[in-house]
Amino acid sequence: MIRDAHDAAERLLSWYDHNRRDLPWRAKPGEEADPYRVWLSEIMLQQTTVPAAAPYFRAFTERWPTVHDLAAAPLDDLLVAWAGLGYYARARNLYKCAQVVANELGGRFPDAEERLLELPGIGAYTAAAIASIAFGRKATVVDGNVERVVARVFAVEEPLPNVKPKLRALAGTITPDERPGDYAQAMMDLGATVCTPRKPKCMLCPWAEWCDARAAGIQEDLPRKVAKADKPTRRGVAYWLLNPEGAVLLRRRAEEGLLGGMTEVPSTDWTAMAPDEAALRRAAPLEANWRRLPGTVRHTFSHFHLELGVVAAKAGDGWRRAEGIWVPVDRLGGQALPSVMMKVVRHALAHA
Ligand code: ADE
Repeated sequence: MIRDAHDAAERLLSWYDHNRRDLPWRAKPGEEADPYRVWLSEIMLQQTTVPAAAPYFRAFTERWPTVHDLAAAPLDDLLVAWAGLGYYARARNLYKCAQVVANELGGRFPDAEERLLELPGIGAYTAAAIASIAFGRKATVVDGNVERVVARVFAVEEPLPNVKPKLRALAGTITPDERPGDYAQAMMDLGATVCTPRKPKCMLCPWAEWCDARAAGIQEDLPRKVAKADKPTRRGVAYWLLNPEGAVLLRRRAEEGLLGGMTEVPSTDWTAMAPDEAALRRAAPLEANWRRLPGTVRHTFSHFHLELGVVAAKAGDGWRRAEGIWVPVDRLGGQALPSVMMKVVRHALAHA
């Protein structure tokens, strides 16, 4: 049981000083944090792991070193650079937020949580993270790592997600006044490297002696979760069509909805049942001698699994009639192709 929040914070901060991860968006000890970099990293890190986000963060900050640079970029460039990170609505909100900050706030991010919350794409977590990490404001930063640490230290047995408000309140009781940004990141690092979902390394934990879950021997069972319903599977077929010049047909997806505004290989609708022959003919971008390639492309989105078959054809003389854009195969890197479509491209190149 943590009896003295101040002692607990001090011990965690001292652990952080010796064990902090060296991450590309972190100010070095003694360096001042750059709110732009803090904001950008926190948006990227929503729903994305640290190793996956790091190369994107480096690429973005090299190309757009300030919020003014990002706000002045064409949205399409940003979407291409974001491709592969997923959750493309985040990229659009990132862009909107950059424009508000650059054009209406003189390039300065607000330092208070309530003001940050008014900006596009910034929710409770991100507002608290920016206020504390970029501006040294006291704020309770709660992500999945923090929930796990708190559930264990206080041996909270009620299941997620309903227990979230309680975990947040408990996290608030141990948030210190000093070094709020380091404390927030220390909690994240503790959760990511020591208080891990499986096989937590309690021997290395600065809070081990105060941890109620460890005392009860239930640390690996917490936090409990209400069983989630299985994700449904949707199925479809993608059309890999090459023209006589060696370019492939792509389309831009609708602005709204899943993968909004991103580029795709044309496909049938994605439905529970795989399309039959008639549906396949109807959705084809051109009449052609379509050939089914071996294998299936699989991808998992937040709410469903997707299985895509791929058919391939060479377009004849009427190729200009197909709706979409023709992109030479060696220029596909310049397109905003989300991960699922990168898989389709690799599959087609390997088998067509
Ligand atoms: N996950 C989200 N934000 C993070 C940060 N600032 N440091 C480490 N992991 C994080």
